[in-house]
Amino acid sequence: MSGVMAPEVGLPETGACPYTVLRSPDTVREVLHRPQDFSPANALLAVTPLSGPALRVLQRAKFALPPVLASNDTQTHAGIRKVVAGFFTPAKVAAMEPRIRSLARESATNAARLLGTDGSVDLVQAVAADPPALVMLEMLGLPVRELPQLKAWSLDSLELFWGWPDADRQLELAGSAADFYRWLKDLVLESVASPDRNLFNALDRHGLSTPEICSLGYFLLIAGQETTTQLISTTLFRLAEGSRGISWSEAASPLKARHMVRHVLATESSVPTWRRVANHDTVLDGTPVRAGEEILVELTGNHGFPWAETADADVAGSDGSGPTPYGLAFGSGIHRCLGAKLAELEAAVVIHETATALKGVRLRDSNPEWIRLLSFQAPRTVVVEPG
Ligand code: HEM
Repeated sequence: MSGVMAPEVGLPETGACPYTVLRSPDTVREVLHRPQDFSPANALLAVTPLSGPALRVLQRAKFALPPVLASNDTQTHAGIRKVVAGFFTPAKVAAMEPRIRSLARESATNAARLLGTDGSVDLVQAVAADPPALVMLEMLGLPVRELPQLKAWSLDSLELFWGWPDADRQLELAGSAADFYRWLKDLVLESVASPDRNLFNALDRHGLSTPEICSLGYFLLIAGQETTTQLISTTLFRLAEGSRGISWSEAASPLKARHMVRHVLATESSVPTWRRVANHDTVLDGTPVRAGEEILVELTGNHGFPWAETADADVAGSDGSGPTPYGLAFGSGIHRCLGAKLAELEAAVVIHETATALKGVRLRDSNPEWIRLLSFQAPRTVVVEPG
């Protein structure tokens, strides 16, 4: 496989692609199913190396992300995963459906009201932003507080770790990540001391240290809601655009809403790529892979990450298989997403309720700004007006 170079700080176009890009679904699945050979240790590393001043801002907050779950390639992963999985069992997710529906209906009714009074409404803020965060916090037994702040922190941290911020932007984003981390640490300490069952005291009982619990919380409080917000945003955008074979009014059927969510998961999911690193010299598809080689697996179709053109053409989808199937959208193997069922349910319910409450809409802005990071994508706004 091709050699790798360290990425430059700054615009991604200026540096060589630091990853071996894999697009063939079979090869991607094989990588994800060989954790001894392909470790997730690089899953949460900053795509753009952080500058000294940005690192110092983080250090002052004692910010650290020791490997616990998504980036943990040791024996401790299975036990920790089991503790977290206990909060998202299929039965618990199914039991949340009425609550998800009531939140989705409330947001959709509010969006319809705004559409009537203001003549337009941004569906990202009105229906996609809050329900996933509320549901996640409730399922984890954590208090719902500072929701707008949590959403803003999430976007900033995704950009800091999966984007290409220049030095000034890094400082801003590091400040935001440090604030988030301090807030999180207080929440962890408070929750560990609480007599009521919650994720953080369950992890404490499992033997995790405070920095380890904070590391897991930092990942999960973002991954457990912002990714779903982004999936809902893209789905609503494509429905309003009318470009995917299912019309806005058809999505008022629960079945069609679910189909549309699955279509987006297969073609342009909110998490289109993920990373692995070769643990040692090994072989993949008959080709040698060197120890330390960083791999970018394509899970679903995407809008083209900056190095897409420089990807290894032999490996990157030359089989003409097109977008990878929906089955890879949540990863595969021992690190497969623990929120897959929940995310899909939330997205389908929000789409259904929104299409039911808002009859006949069209996009006011058909070319909005998109979040386009290495591993995250979605429109930042979906502003609609009466159709
Ligand atoms: C549309 C929404 C979501 C997408 C597209 C998504 C996608 C992913 C992907 C691609 C991975 C990496 C899988 C791998 O390495 O094989 C992952 C891991 C994970 N996700 Fe999600 N996710 C979503 C929502 C959620 C939600 C709602 C939760 C929980 C409430 C969640 C919890 C997790 C956890 C805990 C892991 C790490 C699992 C491990 O390392 O053992 N995700 N997710």
